[in-house]
Amino acid sequence: MNVPISLRPAVASDLPAIIQLDALSNPHPWGEKLVADALQSRENWILESVGCTPHVVLGWLTASVVLDQSELELIVIDSSVRRQGLARQLMMVWSETVAQQDVSELLLEVRESNVGAISLYESLGFELVGRRKNYYQIEKKAQTEQGREAACLFTKIL
Ligand SMILES: CC(C)(COP(=O)(O)OP(=O)(O)OC[C@H]1O[C@@H](n2cnc3c(N)ncnc32)[C@H](O)[C@@H]1OP(=O)(O)O)[C@@H](O)C(=O)NCCC(=O)NCCS
Repeated sequence: MNVPISLRPAVASDLPAIIQLDALSNPHPWGEKLVADALQSRENWILESVGCTPHVVLGWLTASVVLDQSELELIVIDSSVRRQGLARQLMMVWSETVAQQDVSELLLEVRESNVGAISLYESLGFELVGRRKNYYQIEKKAQTEQGREAACLFTKIL
C-alpha cells in the first residue's frame, strides 16, 4: 500500500481511536467498556498510518495470555484498508511476541459465518479443533431458527 504504516504495542492514549475503530469496522462492536478493559488487562497491538498527523489507527489486535496459551480476543482492520495483508501482519506479531513469553499454543474462536476471518486463520496454519453450536447471537435479518450461530474453535501449536 502507499501510505506508511507502523505496527506497535497499544498504549492507554490509543483508547479513543481504538473505540472508534471498533465502532466503525467491527460488525459486532465491543463498545467502550470492553475495549478499555482489554487495553488495561491484555496484550494489544495497533497498526496506524503514520504518513500524516494525527496518525490514524487502522487495525487492532487484542489477546490474553494464560500460562502457556494465548487466546485471540479480537482482530479488526479498518474497512477501507482490508485485503492488503494488515491482519496477517498483526497476527504474526502476536504469535512472535507471545512465543517469546513461553506460550506454546494459540487459541481463537470465530463465528462460523465469518469466512474471511476463517480463511485468514487457516492461511496462517490454525487448525479447526471444535465447534460450539448456537454459541453466538446473530442479527435478526440473518437469524436461524434459534437466532444463534456456531463458534468454530481453532488452535495453532507454536
Ligand atoms: C477478518 C479481518 C481482520 C481480515 O483483515 P484483512 O487485513 O483484510 O486481512 P489480510 O489482508 O491480512 O488477509 C490475509 C488473508 O486472509 C484471507 N482473507 C482475509 N479476508 C478475507 C475475505 N474477506 N475473504 C476471503 N479471504 C480473506 C485471505 O487468504 C487473505 O490473503 P489474500 O488477500 O492474499 O487472499 C477483517 O476483515 C476485519 O476486520 N473484519 C471485521 C472484524 C472481524 O471479523 N474480526 C475477526 C473476528 S475476531
